[in-house]
Amino acid sequence: MTGFLQTLDPIFEHCAEHIMNELFDTPPERRHTDSIKWRRYQDSDVLPLWVADMDFAAPPPVLEALQTRLQHPVFGYADPWPSLNEAVVEGIARDHNWQIEADWIVWLPGVVPGFNLACRLAGDPGAGVLAFPPVYPPMLHAAANNDRRLVRSDLVETDNRWGIDWDHLAALDHKAIRMLLLCNPHNPVGRVWTQEELVRLARYAEHNDWLICSDDIHCGLVLNPATPYRPIASLDESLAQRTITLMAPSKTWNIPALQAAFAIIPNAQLRQQYQHAALGLVASPNVLGLVAAEAAYRHGDTWRQAMLEYLRGNASLLAQSVNNIPGLRTTPIEATYLAWINCKELGQTHPQRFFEQAGVGLSNGKDFGLEGYVRLNFGCSRALLSEALQRMHRAITQS
Ligand SMILES: Cc1ncc(COP(=O)(O)O)c(C=O)c1O
Repeated sequence: MTGFLQTLDPIFEHCAEHIMNELFDTPPERRHTDSIKWRRYQDSDVLPLWVADMDFAAPPPVLEALQTRLQHPVFGYADPWPSLNEAVVEGIARDHNWQIEADWIVWLPGVVPGFNLACRLAGDPGAGVLAFPPVYPPMLHAAANNDRRLVRSDLVETDNRWGIDWDHLAALDHKAIRMLLLCNPHNPVGRVWTQEELVRLARYAEHNDWLICSDDIHCGLVLNPATPYRPIASLDESLAQRTITLMAPSKTWNIPALQAAFAIIPNAQLRQQYQHAALGLVASPNVLGLVAAEAAYRHGDTWRQAMLEYLRGNASLLAQSVNNIPGLRTTPIEATYLAWINCKELGQTHPQRFFEQAGVGLSNGKDFGLEGYVRLNFGCSRALLSEALQRMHRAITQS
């Protein structure tokens, strides 16, 4: 763009941001729709801030691409096409500074089947799968689902930040562990693992010949520019050879029910084993999800940046409010639209139920492997979040 148009560009950008903020402030009505999140409380006055989808409409370029695809009336099995893989390769290079190859991509209907499959490649039945609770509940169950054994190394909170308990990790039986199941950025504590932390984990993996499966589904949702995301497989070539990285457009562009995700597996032999393990067990991805994925990676960045800015506003409101409510405390959120709230000083045996009775539907910390906590999804309008936070405040001060 040159001359006169260039001068106007910041104005256009400002307008776009303003319009998008309005879109996020007034999301579509989801009551009485098919939404899992909203149906749970459709007959009661409870604000749903639990399951991890956002209330926002999908980005306009994604909607447009879907509408175009709908004009062709056949929905037969789809073969992921070259320009789709190209969009993913370019998107990951642009957004995460990681150069992958199209051949490394294995399409899946979801990230959850993706890490369950990875467990099947971890040593023999009974082999240990290391995970860091509190963590996304299906990650706690994946080992047992697949005849493996969960090895927990619980995260610890020090100086207002969650981190790995390195002493605990050092004391484990490393030879019995065959796979590290990482969540980066981490749901629910909102951490983006630093390069230093990833290198330390990588050393364990290399020294003990662990497979690594890294669930990076939240990687497009970094809120704090000071905590950039780095895929563990991008640390070095040899580490990439032992790593299965799972990603999807679903969280970032809010299209989880379109069911399209992918594994990035640079090692050809591992990739073949993974594809073989999927046979007869894991469905092919949804064709509309693939169409949406290409549009999201190619044209979804303006929407993503505006959405992240909106989430930053929500995160800041949340931190201020929660840390001012007696008995509650939360740590700074580096990524995701999920807040992990410590309720241990509240004196309630079941905090999730306590808040539900006060009209706020949260996720129960126990499901993530840690009691005394709740998880709050702030991927919603600021007004809804504000109302929920006021209800939580009132419930505590009036109880
Ligand atoms: C860490 C993590 N992995 C996976 C998923 C879900 O993945 P999918 O719907 O692609 O199976 C979620 C959803 O909340 C998540 O937080």
